[in-house]
Amino acid sequence: MTVNQYDKLHSTIPVKDFGRVAVLYGGKSAEREVSLKSGAAVIEALTSAGVDVVAIDVGDDLLQRLLDEKIDRAFIILHGRGGEDGSMQGLLECLGIPYTGSGILASALAMDKLRTKQVWQSLGIPTPRHAVLGSESDCISAGTELGFPLIVKPAHEGSSIGMAKVTSVDELIAAWKDAATYDSQVLVEQWIHGPEFTIATLRGQVLPPIALGTPHTFYDYDAKYLASDTQYRIPCGLSAEKEQELIDLTARACDAVGIAGWGRLDVMQDEQGRFWLLEVNTAPGMTDHSLVPMAARAAGLDFQQLVLAILAASVEARG
Ligand SMILES: Nc1ncnc2c1ncn2[C@@H]1O[C@H](COP(=O)(O)OP(=O)(O)OP(=O)(O)O)[C@@H](O)[C@H]1O
Ligand SMILES: [Mg+2]
Repeated sequence: MTVNQYDKLHSTIPVKDFGRVAVLYGGKSAEREVSLKSGAAVIEALTSAGVDVVAIDVGDDLLQRLLDEKIDRAFIILHGRGGEDGSMQGLLECLGIPYTGSGILASALAMDKLRTKQVWQSLGIPTPRHAVLGSESDCISAGTELGFPLIVKPAHEGSSIGMAKVTSVDELIAAWKDAATYDSQVLVEQWIHGPEFTIATLRGQVLPPIALGTPHTFYDYDAKYLASDTQYRIPCGLSAEKEQELIDLTARACDAVGIAGWGRLDVMQDEQGRFWLLEVNTAPGMTDHSLVPMAARAAGLDFQQLVLAILAASVEARG
């Protein structure tokens, strides 16, 4: 990854060279509603740029539709399992259809919060201490080892679904049971007190970090998609030196996972000013509330230029 060469982000590929582009959106994951909105925005932007677009709300007839529609390329804007987790990428690889974003391995890894953290830890990239919960006794020992407050997360969800902040063993057990209804693997992390940042990457470059503020306990589903009191700041308010540290950390963390094309990393900063990496998203939200479009605007790309840049990266990556 390189940083701060925003002029190189723009697509210079004539739109006809993209061919017939399937926008894959919707799907069956818990984040279907968000994906429908992201997909609608991407479809509208590509269509008005003159791209030959086929909109496919992904269902059981996907394979047949991909074959019938004579697709040249796919724009994946499915969030969560079944679309962002390597399985769709694998299907498209088998069919020989180039697609946007990360490949099979990085998509599968990034969808798994636990294994992403293990890769980062092995490289000395900071991520909050954590434990895996599979029983009430795991909850008791996690409380003792990590200390409260903690945050409970399903390992493979997004949009803050199934997550809760807890301050006691009883709350932890209840939150684990709830998270387990979403996912067979649940983890618990040390709560980081301090500001939150999200940093987008596009075509191998890191975009300006965004600082997030919410009056909610954390950046939950409501704060992400519904609330009008969520604050977004670019420039993010860090000193130039700290911002550069965050950008460098983002580049290292995304390279470690193998992020390609585009992505978005979520980071907390503790009271001592240290950064702690939470997770990376390989098909982040593209609604009008979304963060990657906001970061792209700060780097000089409007929404249409952003989707064309994401599409251009799929040409460079896989022909
Ligand atoms: N260790 C932590 N300490 C404090 N707050 C946290 C911690 N982990 C997560 N959060 C809060 O919960 C939110 C969601 O967490 P995370 O990004 O891990 O999950 P997600 O649901 O996959 O998100 P996305 O919608 O970005 O895919 C974060 O944006 C942050 O506000
Ligand atoms: Mg997140």
